[in-house]
Amino acid sequence: MSCIVIYCRAGFENDAAAEITHHASNLGVGGYVKTKPNSALVAYHCYSHDEAEYLIKKIPFKDMIFARQWFIGTQVAKMPIDDRVGSICEVAKSFPLCGELRVETCDTNEGKELSKLCKKISNPLAKALEGQETLLRQQVKNRPTLHVLFIASDTVYVGYSFSFNNSPLYMGIPRLRYPKDAPSRSTLKLDEAFMMFVPEDEREERVASGMKAVDLGACPGGWTYQLVRRGMFVQAIDNGPMDQALMDSGQVKHYREDGFKFRPERRNISWLVCDMVEKPSRVTELMIDWAVNGFAKELIFNLKLPMKKRFDTVYENLQRIRDELHEYGVKYNLQAKHLYHDREEVTVHLQVLRVPQNVFS
Ligand SMILES: C[S@@+](CC[C@H](N)C(=O)[O-])C[C@H]1O[C@@H](n2cnc3c(N)ncnc32)[C@H](O)[C@@H]1O
Repeated sequence: MSCIVIYCRAGFENDAAAEITHHASNLGVGGYVKTKPNSALVAYHCYSHDEAEYLIKKIPFKDMIFARQWFIGTQVAKMPIDDRVGSICEVAKSFPLCGELRVETCDTNEGKELSKLCKKISNPLAKALEGQETLLRQQVKNRPTLHVLFIASDTVYVGYSFSFNNSPLYMGIPRLRYPKDAPSRSTLKLDEAFMMFVPEDEREERVASGMKAVDLGACPGGWTYQLVRRGMFVQAIDNGPMDQALMDSGQVKHYREDGFKFRPERRNISWLVCDMVEKPSRVTELMIDWAVNGFAKELIFNLKLPMKKRFDTVYENLQRIRDELHEYGVKYNLQAKHLYHDREEVTVHLQVLRVPQNVFS
């Protein structure tokens, strides 16, 4: 068992492959990728089980931008249709004792067709795995998670991930409800970003009612909607029209200004969010300026992806942020993710922890 199985959005297999190759080579581990276009799946083959396990323990999962989920596993093909449970159990005998079973598919149309089978097989499989002491009867959070990923009715990848370094979500996908009164579907991106980037036990304090926020490129107001919903007061910057119901909330001030020139009058902004469609290097430069000058405590922004070299573009821009913040002595946390609701963009979260006073005084 020497393969790292990675789930991603269909069409982003090369980016997920480049990413795992990058991190593995940084840790001095070699391997090769097997993937197919639009399969939403990448398999990174290492030369030994120990090396593969080392990688999924050592590479922080939160650093994997294009991966929704991963596990260490192996492929079981051509299973007899009348005994798929037996075939899977046989391979799983060598696994550590797991605390949860997830029977999953890839996020593709072919994958959707297999979801009925996943549901049907889950119970008998769980029982058989419990019987051979590969799976605990009660779900336990701090044990490894056992994954069975169906890629055809007779073929699975089967393996496990570590609960301290994986996505806690089934298929790595959040289930968010689209609010009917939201002005645009992209509202779900910011909802997901808060969920992804701010730990649940810190959300009440960090994403709180009464806070002040700025939304650059706000129209028609999908992101502002999420800020207003959380009780914040928002300065919405855009030349376009804002949703009237949001304006009627009394929590939004609309400024028809250039988002690249706008700066707040006071350094009292808790959240800056930015969804302007612009070159990633230009947005990066703007975000560095906000961070270094202490204009906002936390920033969430999108980097639109180019057609080619998407992985390189994202990593170069993140590196530039790290380099410049380091140069100015700013203390920060930086994360990025190709969210489920993102398409041709990734979402970045920058938490500014400390800015030396002499930078802006
Ligand atoms: C993808 S839309 C934002 C959607 C918004 N986040 C929502 O959820 O409804 C991008 C917006 O950025 C605005 N925009 C682009 N360049 C801008 C600039 N330089 N200054 C202000 N707004 C800009 C556009 O007018 C457009 O409304």
